[in-house]
Amino acid sequence: MAQPPVSGGLLVRNAAQIASGTGHALRGPELGRLRVLEGASLYATNGTIVAVGPSRDVDRLVDGNPLVVDAAGSAVIPGFVDSHTHAVFAGSRVGEFEDKLRGLTYQEIAERGGGILSTVQAVRAAGKAELKELARGRLESALQHGTTTMEIKSGYGLDRESELKMLEVIHELQAEQPIDLIPTFLGAHAVPPGETRDSYLRKLLDLLPEMATKASFCDVFCDPSYFPVPESRRLLEAARRVGMTLTLHAGQLVSDGGIALGLELGARSIAHLDRIGPEDIERLGRSTTAAVLLPGVALFGRVPPPPARQLIAAGAIVAIATNFNPGSCPSPSMPLMIALACMQMSLSPAEALNAATAGGAYALGLDRVGTLEAGSRADLAVLDLADYRMLPYYFGVNHVRTVVKGGQIAWQR
Ligand code: NIG
Repeated sequence: MAQPPVSGGLLVRNAAQIASGTGHALRGPELGRLRVLEGASLYATNGTIVAVGPSRDVDRLVDGNPLVVDAAGSAVIPGFVDSHTHAVFAGSRVGEFEDKLRGLTYQEIAERGGGILSTVQAVRAAGKAELKELARGRLESALQHGTTTMEIKSGYGLDRESELKMLEVIHELQAEQPIDLIPTFLGAHAVPPGETRDSYLRKLLDLLPEMATKASFCDVFCDPSYFPVPESRRLLEAARRVGMTLTLHAGQLVSDGGIALGLELGARSIAHLDRIGPEDIERLGRSTTAAVLLPGVALFGRVPPPPARQLIAAGAIVAIATNFNPGSCPSPSMPLMIALACMQMSLSPAEALNAATAGGAYALGLDRVGTLEAGSRADLAVLDLADYRMLPYYFGVNHVRTVVKGGQIAWQR
C-alpha cells in the first residue's frame, strides 16, 4: 500500500531492542548499565528525540505523518562517537605492515624513515581536493559502520600551510557529508625534517592563536622521542591560554609522566594509556578526564592492550575509539573496536557499547549525542541483529543496516 507523504519527524518503530546508556560520565559499574527496552519505538522531531519507550506509548505521541523506520527484529543503538582519529591522510603504509609482521617495532620503523613522517610527506604532496576525496571515502565507510560523530586530528602536515590544509578538509567535509566532525590541532605529532624540537616548538607556539580558530581541541604526542613532558607542557599551557580544550596521546610507548601532566592541566581526555602504572590508574579514576582506549592499536601492533579492567575498577571514565590512521590502526570500524574491547580487554558488551557511544561523547564534551533519550540528537544505528550483545559476538561482519543522523536517514543498506 502506498504511504501518504511524510509531514515531519521520524518514527523508529517496533524495535526488538532499543539499547542505550543513560548518562555520559559513566564510572565503575555505571559503565555496564544500559537501558534495554524491548518492543520499543523512538520518535524524533527536528532532529531531536522526543520520546523513547514501549511502542504502544510512543506511537500514540506521533503527530502528522513521520518518516517511519521499521525496526522489527532489530536492535537500535546510539550512533557511535569515535573520539580519536587521524582520518585525513594520504598514502598507505602497507610496507610497514609487512615490516611489523617481521617483528619491527613502531620505533624501529620510525627510525628507518617510516612512521608518521612518511605520511607527512604524502600529505604535503597531496592537493587539498585529493586529500578531501580520500577522507570522504573513509568517512563513508565509518558511517556505514554506524559512526555519526567523529573527531579528526591534523598532524600530518607539520607546517602552517599543510596543517591548515588538513583542517580545511575537515571543515569542508563537515558541510558535504552527514557525520559530525570535531577538528583537533595536532601540530605536535612529530618534529618535521629541517627543524629541531626547539625551533619547531617555537613555530607551534606562534601558530596556536590561528589554529584555535580552526580547531577547538589541541593535542600533543607526549613521549620522550616526540614531545617530552616539558615541551608538551609549554604547548598545552599556551593552547589553554588561547581557549583550546586539551587532549593528549600519552603512555603509548613508554610511561614518562604524560598522563600526570594531562591530569594536572585538566585535559578533557588522554588517549592510548598502554603503558600506565598503578598510580596513574588511580589518578585517572579520581579525575574528570576521559581515558580513551584504542583496542585496534594493540591488535595491529601486536602488543598487550591497555589495562581497561583496572581503569574501570578505579572509577575512570572510559571511552573506546578507533584511532583510525595509516600507521597504527587502519580501520574505521567501531563495531570491530567493540568486539576487541570485549575479547581483548574483557569489557562486557554493555560496557563496550557505552564506551563507544556515551564515553566517546564525554571525551569530546558533547552531551546531546551518545545516548538515546528525550532531548538527545536522533543519531542512531539500526542493526540486523535482534540483541545488541550479538554485535561483538558475530564479529567481523558489518551488522549496521540503517544509520540515522539528526533524524534523517544518512545511510541504509
Ligand atoms: O595514535 N601516536 C601517535 N599517532 C598515531 C600514529 C599515527 C601514525 O603512525 O601515523 C597513533 O598511533
